[in-house]
Amino acid sequence: MGQLQERYKNYREPQKFMEQGVYPYFRAITSKQGTEVEMEGHKVLMFGSNAYTGLTGDQRIIDAAKAALDTYGSGCAGSRFLNGTLDLHIQLEKELAEFVGKDECLCFSTGFSVNSGVIAMVVGRGDYIICDDRDHASIVDGRRLSFAKQLHYKHNDMEDLENILKTLPHEAVKLIVVDGVFSMEGDLCNLPKIIELKHKYNCSVMVDEAHGLGVFGRDGRGVCDYFGLTDEVDLIMGTFSKSFASIGGFIASDSDTINYIRHACRTYIFSASNTPAATAAALEALHVIKKEPERIEALWKVTKYALRRFREEGFEIGDTASPIIPLYVHDTEKTFMATKLAFDAGVFINPVIPPACAPQDTLVRFALMATHTEEQVERGVQILAKVFRELGIIK
Ligand SMILES: Cc1ncc(COP(=O)(O)O)c(C=O)c1O
Repeated sequence: MGQLQERYKNYREPQKFMEQGVYPYFRAITSKQGTEVEMEGHKVLMFGSNAYTGLTGDQRIIDAAKAALDTYGSGCAGSRFLNGTLDLHIQLEKELAEFVGKDECLCFSTGFSVNSGVIAMVVGRGDYIICDDRDHASIVDGRRLSFAKQLHYKHNDMEDLENILKTLPHEAVKLIVVDGVFSMEGDLCNLPKIIELKHKYNCSVMVDEAHGLGVFGRDGRGVCDYFGLTDEVDLIMGTFSKSFASIGGFIASDSDTINYIRHACRTYIFSASNTPAATAAALEALHVIKKEPERIEALWKVTKYALRRFREEGFEIGDTASPIIPLYVHDTEKTFMATKLAFDAGVFINPVIPPACAPQDTLVRFALMATHTEEQVERGVQILAKVFRELGIIK
């Protein structure tokens, strides 16, 4: 037996849950994305998606993607740096930069490769990266790849952040990186305080808008816009895999910083560019988001309804202020069991266990789309309330 086989033969954590019949991952969807999908021959209400604007099944976006396939083909066969740049990429970058309020923007093939590539190279030896300890895994990987000194503070604890900043040299380059909306907990970063500390301690700030775009700010411009602090934020990151109904990501900043990233970022230069269809889909989604602010209103209407109903039913939902509603369980086995019972009753939700959360904070993540109806949300709440009561998670 080889070394790796020897090492991994005893990794049986997933099999344990498979044997119990509660393994929740990799379920195949056999229908179009929407508020109801077909999964393994079972029709379920979808409350596990990140498609906040509800645009993944929108015909205009599907048509734009099809047209790009016909015009440009199925792939770009190279990186943006060399043969992989399309006029479509450039148009999307221009419109996104304007949308988020920065000079320029660069599109990548995934949001993950934006964070893992950009954070790793904008700061280096002698510099500091300071992260919230609930930041997304792609931010964590970006900081791990950097030669800068890595520090982190307790989730949204501004006193802890300040205590760290106080100890750092004033002249050193210090980059604070935060999720605008925390992807599992649904709460916002305290951007006003972070910007105050940025000025007091001479830092730079990067905000991950993965879950803020299409949800917060004017016409869905994100959390930086919502707080009126776009000009104070040095780097804005976003992804197309959520409100933009596609796949890909971007970084937006001032022209000088973008010029450096464009010519030095390894995940940008040494990875093939985003496909024509995915790029056209993101561009069309941006147009629809700008044209239809009523979508965001609809999203907030169902979000407020769901928040009220979960509270009325006695769920513990933490400090969420977004369409991401964490339903705390505080027990890994019960989290899997709740997910399974909900699925059997027709509701798809995501179990969240370590490392996506702290071991004592396991939860199921319920997320809304602009296209959910109140009737669907009510059905979801009632099914989940029944399941949580059966398992003794709520009274
Ligand atoms: C906060 C955050 N940042 C970055 C990413 C990565 O984005 P992508 O799915 O486009 O790779 C995600 C996706 O889960 C995310 O939630």
